[in-house]
Amino acid sequence: MREIAYQKCINPACGATYAIDEVLFGCNQCGNLLDVLYEWDRTPMPREMTFFETRWNTRESVTDFSGVWRFRELLPFARERDIVTIGEGRTNLQRADLMAAEIGMRPGHLSLQYEGLNPSGSFKDNGMTAAFTLARMLGRKRVACASTGNTSASLAMFASLSGTHGGQTKQGIVFIGSGKIAYGKLSQALDYGALTLQIEGDFDACLRRVREASDQLGLYLMNSVNPFRLEGQKTIMYRILEARDWQPPDWIVVPGGNLGNSSAFGKAWAELFELGLVEKIPRLAVIVANGANTLYELYENQGVRWNGGHVDHEKIGQLYDRMDRDGYKPHTVASAIEISRPVNLPKALRALDTMNGLVREVPDEAILEHKAMVGRFGFGCEPASGASVAGLRLLLDQQVIGPDEDVVCILTGHELKDPDATVLYHTGIDMKAAEAPPPRPTTGKYANAPIKVADDLDAICKVLGHEDEVPATNGETITVGYHHDDASVMKEY
Ligand code: F0G
Repeated sequence: MREIAYQKCINPACGATYAIDEVLFGCNQCGNLLDVLYEWDRTPMPREMTFFETRWNTRESVTDFSGVWRFRELLPFARERDIVTIGEGRTNLQRADLMAAEIGMRPGHLSLQYEGLNPSGSFKDNGMTAAFTLARMLGRKRVACASTGNTSASLAMFASLSGTHGGQTKQGIVFIGSGKIAYGKLSQALDYGALTLQIEGDFDACLRRVREASDQLGLYLMNSVNPFRLEGQKTIMYRILEARDWQPPDWIVVPGGNLGNSSAFGKAWAELFELGLVEKIPRLAVIVANGANTLYELYENQGVRWNGGHVDHEKIGQLYDRMDRDGYKPHTVASAIEISRPVNLPKALRALDTMNGLVREVPDEAILEHKAMVGRFGFGCEPASGASVAGLRLLLDQQVIGPDEDVVCILTGHELKDPDATVLYHTGIDMKAAEAPPPRPTTGKYANAPIKVADDLDAICKVLGHEDEVPATNGETITVGYHHDDASVMKEY
């Protein structure tokens, strides 16, 4: 463990600190989120960002090859030998002149950060490498997450690769909402051998359950409430700087779901500024779907702000109570961001404060239209990522962003994550509405069918069992706690 790193409650009125080997996903004193912080004056720190260019020549080192760890001085919580890396973060910032012209910007001012080019096809790999590194440092064998799909794909890939390479992780466990996940993402979790629980509920329900199950069974939680995830996601900002010859843009535009990215970006810029490594902080635009617009409602309509850490939790609670009373369920074609209770909300409010930010909501039609535009002019992206470009178009129309400001839109996920959405847009054929034939028994050696489980902690724990009885995930031996006569636990195939 590196002692220069520690965890600290984000609530300034509390400020409790914890060692990094204390496994916590909230402050023990007051329940707020935790940050990973560093004693910067006790660790070697480059004087200028150009220092990192030396790493471009040393790619035979796996840590220099990684687009996350080549910036390791800016997330110094691990020793080099502890790092778990699969070659993540080697992503592109592409100038998008044709698209700029299409949406009324001047050439040279719009760029797209293609995080879909990560190994598992989304930005999540940036954070997963950091969280897996901590799991290795802590010797944790079972890791788990709730997911709208990309986190599970990334977790499953890291779990299988680190298992294969003699790491300690023996099992990746993912909780996904019934019918809530794009097939590209589901197929990844199954292929990489994660134990996949399909919970009868939405993402918010899955996250609640995985937190409870992690407490009860000692699983190591890999969602973005894990502050180490966000340390890895800071590097998206470093790579944008790197691609722009270390000059910050005027705007970063990012889709918002659980608000991990927005939070990580705010922390990245606050630290770079404090360390004297940048002189300017770009503005942040967080774009949500209007069918999942909690942040927009709170920030833009109700004026909830970070307010020096004195967040108006009462207003947030009132909104959540109202959503419960009305039986509100988020709904958007961008299933990745179909989230109504973003866990990183306070950190995102802090990021909006640091980056003089704003929030916009966009309808599904605009999301699909701008996703298609990205495809027409570039590598393509999944629907949630299209939200950032739809948001940019709105901000141009509103004259909040000018045509010759430097804008970077973050494209968070690969086009092939959700091919159904693309086919529907172009052909009108709704593959998701098609009736599936009855499943046949799977016989492949590596078959790994998901298990359907009620939204019920006991049923979930029964399926997961305890660490010493970790079930194999090869499709035929998932038997722990599973009984054919138990109505709450049903094997799907
Ligand atoms: N874009 C994509 C493609 C995503 O998968 C997600 C989140 C987001 C944007 C939102 O990012 O949570 O940092 O605000 N997907 C999560 C998942 C929730 O489970 O894969 P955020």
